Amino acid sequence: MSLKFAYWVPNVSGGLVISKIPQKTGWSFEDNAAYAKLAEEAGFEFALLQTRFIASYGAENQLEAISLASALAAVTTKLKLIAAVLPGLWHPGTIAKAITTIDQISGGRAAVNIVSGWFKGEFYGFGEPWLDHNERYRRSEEFIRVLKELWNQEATTFRGDFYRINEAPHKPKPLVQPPVFQGGNSAAARAMAARVSDWYFMNGNTLEGFRAQIEEVKALAAVEGRSLSFGVNAFVIVRDTEEEARQVLREIISHADPEAVEGFRSQVQFAGKASPEREGMWADSNFEDLVQYNDGFKTGLIGTPEQVADRIIELKKIGVDLILTGFLHYDEEIKAFGDKVIPLVREKEALLNAVPAN
Ligand SMILES: Cc1cc2nc3c(=O)[nH]c(=O)nc-3n(C[C@H](O)[C@H](O)[C@H](O)COP(=O)(O)O)c2cc1C
Repeated sequence: MSLKFAYWVPNVSGGLVISKIPQKTGWSFEDNAAYAKLAEEAGFEFALLQTRFIASYGAENQLEAISLASALAAVTTKLKLIAAVLPGLWHPGTIAKAITTIDQISGGRAAVNIVSGWFKGEFYGFGEPWLDHNERYRRSEEFIRVLKELWNQEATTFRGDFYRINEAPHKPKPLVQPPVFQGGNSAAARAMAARVSDWYFMNGNTLEGFRAQIEEVKALAAVEGRSLSFGVNAFVIVRDTEEEARQVLREIISHADPEAVEGFRSQVQFAGKASPEREGMWADSNFEDLVQYNDGFKTGLIGTPEQVADRIIELKKIGVDLILTGFLHYDEEIKAFGDKVIPLVREKEALLNAVPAN
């Protein structure tokens, strides 16, 4: 399978970094319609919309992911739209219907990213109960099972600890089965991915960090008689020289907003660190890592087009199927990535496929 490319839809203000570096990336519908059209022309297959309802890490204004995905579906023709959903704030019956509606509008281009939550402030703000780490995953797993049953069964009856569904029909069925992505890297997240998700998204990491997760989740899935695909987050800085790219990174970090980064750090302790094994997303992130709120600098897609393409091929070799990208200046960098990096990756992939396996 050739590598797939996705980009983070900037549906919250402040771009993809917790930094006051001047940037042009917008968050409005108009900006996002323009980025989506650029991205599908540039060779991106997926767009990921994050779910965020209350300001955090400087994301002062937010557009809701499912509604915006629906609007982007109407102005694009190829892009697959992955809307993030946070169980606990939604019911799976309503989400199944919303995603099917995007599938209908887009002619089969809808997908969902089930995230299990780290931001207690959002639940407090909305007056909803905040569950323990592993309980959140038990609820997410039921949520995914209900979605899949509604999309596939004539009528669904489900008896879970979190959801009860009684002979509920779901019509129309989606034109194309919406793939279920998941964000979350703790042990509970890995076990859930193996059992019910189609895609496992990883926060930015080293090659070793990715490899260990891919091997473990693949082995867990094999026990279930399943297989799934893997996506990694990366903040991409491509410039003509490596020094220029590194300088951009230094500038982003030197303009970091310490108060917002520390506020973010104090909230993400409810993610992997709150799990029984104390591992998972952000469990060992340092200040610089957190300036990109999904550890995207760690993945190392920073340098010349050639260097970045080589690194992407290294990721492919360890079993990565999709690169989830974020940029500083969306209006320029999406197109530049499509012009300069994706063709190089395709050339290198062709060479890789031509080498006989021994
Ligand atoms: C690619 C990706 C996208 C995510 N998107 C969101 C999001 O939109 N909203 C959100 O609150 N959390 C999001 N998360 C975070 C998850 O909700 C979860 O809190 C986090 O993965 C911690 O999981 P862990 O405790 O299993 O490591 C995302 C995670 C990943 C890897």
